[in-house]
Amino acid sequence: MSKHILILDGDGIGPEIVAAAEKVLRVVNDQYQLGLTWEHGLLGGAAIDAHGEPYPQITSEQAQKADAILLGAVGGPKWDSIERSIRPERGLLKIRSELNLFANLRPAILYPQLADASSLKPEIVSGLDILIVRELTGGIYFGQPRGIRELENGEKQGYNTDVYAESEIKRIAKVAFELAGLRGGKVCSVDKANVLEVTELWKQTVTALKDAEYPEIQLSHLYVDNAAMQLVRAPKQFDVIVTGNLFGDILSDEAAMLTGSIGMLPSASLDENGKGMYEPCHGSAPDIAGQNIANPLATILSVAMMLRYTFREETAAKAIEDAVGKVLDQGIRTADILSDGMTKVGTVEMGKAVVAALG
Ligand code: IPM
Ligand code: MG
Repeated sequence: MSKHILILDGDGIGPEIVAAAEKVLRVVNDQYQLGLTWEHGLLGGAAIDAHGEPYPQITSEQAQKADAILLGAVGGPKWDSIERSIRPERGLLKIRSELNLFANLRPAILYPQLADASSLKPEIVSGLDILIVRELTGGIYFGQPRGIRELENGEKQGYNTDVYAESEIKRIAKVAFELAGLRGGKVCSVDKANVLEVTELWKQTVTALKDAEYPEIQLSHLYVDNAAMQLVRAPKQFDVIVTGNLFGDILSDEAAMLTGSIGMLPSASLDENGKGMYEPCHGSAPDIAGQNIANPLATILSVAMMLRYTFREETAAKAIEDAVGKVLDQGIRTADILSDGMTKVGTVEMGKAVVAALG
């Protein structure tokens, strides 16, 4: 394996958080002699400014030859008014789809050092460790037909299509079952099978796969409205949640917020061979861009996920996670996770603190 990484800084706080993560990557690469190489590319608004489109050919070529991609975040008000089909977010959807990154892993972990940060009572969230497995290249995000059309009476009508083939459901359910087998052994599949046929098939397919191949996994099902409620009522009942693209988008933000610190959460989007794109769960936060106040830890932890899932370098991945733990133990905090008695630092300083903690 060539071990080559494409780094896409993106927009807003993207370049700042990625710069901090790149420093960590450089140090770990040397310390553990990982032999990784990397280059930078453009995605989202930055690519629109340079090439007129959010996922230009040149980025696509870079992405195809890379083994892994590290992404900051894309989007911002600057590009909100341009035509929908070439907005920054479309670049993100295009790269996910082109590279077949169908399995989106979004862990929601409450760091004990940050227990105060949650809006829920400590006893409800302490020790929280959920993994959301979101299908990322299908469903209503990509279903055809879609658009805004004009009806005969002159009124406009918007429409989208939610579609899932059995094979798409099976491959994401398999990822969820396999990962659950490595942790709590429980999978909750989230659907709206009481209303939507597409999720009725989802439920049947997930159940059939479990019965055929994963007898040891404990499988449950929830309608998405109930799942949203259970996540704030008793989140620790969950181990792995598997769901479609749209429900996963919504529930993963909710789960992230349970930890009180969306600035801490990394994510991985994987294809069938372990190639992946790694990015923080949070957005590009244009309102705080360029001020050296953004929290780079989610991006730094995304580097750890990259080492674990694509490059199979568990020791180096763990070293990064431990370094982040140490920095939190030292009371070092960016503004978003600040609490009484802690030391407030900026993006650059936080990156340096993690590097220092790596020893
Ligand atoms: C996410 C984001 C994206 C999504 C947007 C930016 C297109 O919300 O990664 O969760 O909806 O998938
Ligand atoms: Mg989202």
